[in-house]
Amino acid sequence: MNLARTRYLMVWLAAGIVFDLLLAENKSVRVQLGNPRELTGYWLLGVMIFLALFNLRKRLPMLPLGNGASWLTLHAVGGVLAAGVYLLHTENLWPSGVYERALAVLSYLTVLSGIGGYFIQRIYPRLLTETGIEVIYERIPLRISELRQKAEALVLECCDQTRFETLGRHYLDSLQWFFSRPRFTFNHIVGSQRSQQWLKQQDTAVRRYLNDDERKYLDDLSQLAQQKDRIDIHYTLQGAMKRWLLVHIPLTVALMVLSFWHLLVVNVYSL
Ligand code: HEM
Repeated sequence: MNLARTRYLMVWLAAGIVFDLLLAENKSVRVQLGNPRELTGYWLLGVMIFLALFNLRKRLPMLPLGNGASWLTLHAVGGVLAAGVYLLHTENLWPSGVYERALAVLSYLTVLSGIGGYFIQRIYPRLLTETGIEVIYERIPLRISELRQKAEALVLECCDQTRFETLGRHYLDSLQWFFSRPRFTFNHIVGSQRSQQWLKQQDTAVRRYLNDDERKYLDDLSQLAQQKDRIDIHYTLQGAMKRWLLVHIPLTVALMVLSFWHLLVVNVYSL
């Protein structure tokens, strides 16, 4: 078993033990007619502060606070633990007050965005390598525009040379849409092959109406479309890798602010 797996296993085990102890303590406080929400509330706040400190750890990499991989393991497992402690604390999935609902939504979204981001960071680099090309994200619009120009030049040449306009009409009807900007974003996000099926359908639909000369042009056009599809994958996956933290961090900030406000309100009411 490699080091990363062992680390994850140990941290999961530790988180499971912490959660079990908390569950037992929660029951015992209830049996003694105490208020278990205080216990679980402070635990939840503690775990959340620890999770939020990840930001500080990333900003100060020079401090001897352990390596990034260990922090990420603790953070990811800690995030799932926080979701468990949250449910222990609230005792239901959907609270009744508006303020409590806002806290619930923020908690769910923060954890979900974290889980989504975790998988994005683990899976997308492999999917990008599988495309077999490397593209700088900022240059993607230029690359797409170059491919579009090549595709249109090819179609014009085909009409010019063969004196048939079937390929030209096909381009206007379907491929122009495809070449105009990044497409199939949602499908690429979930790793589906929908764009490949669509391109194949377009090729098959027109091929039978073309003569041998036109088919050579269609072959070149399909190759350009394949290149464009690979660039679309980069556009979607690199974009998601760059942007998901722009969702996770603001959610974290909003969650922390509301949580501290909640702590204040609860303490003021208990006076
Ligand atoms: C209440 C729950 C959570 C809070 C408050 C929280 C907070 C944070 C913060 C403050 C950062 C640092 C962002 C930065 O400055 O770059 C971060 C990053 C991250 N979080 Fe969370 N998080 C939570 C849950 C989760 C969960 C459940 C997961 C995954 C299972 C997760 C995965 C990640 C990942 C992968 C990163 C980026 C790591 C990197 O860039 O290397 N988070 N989170």
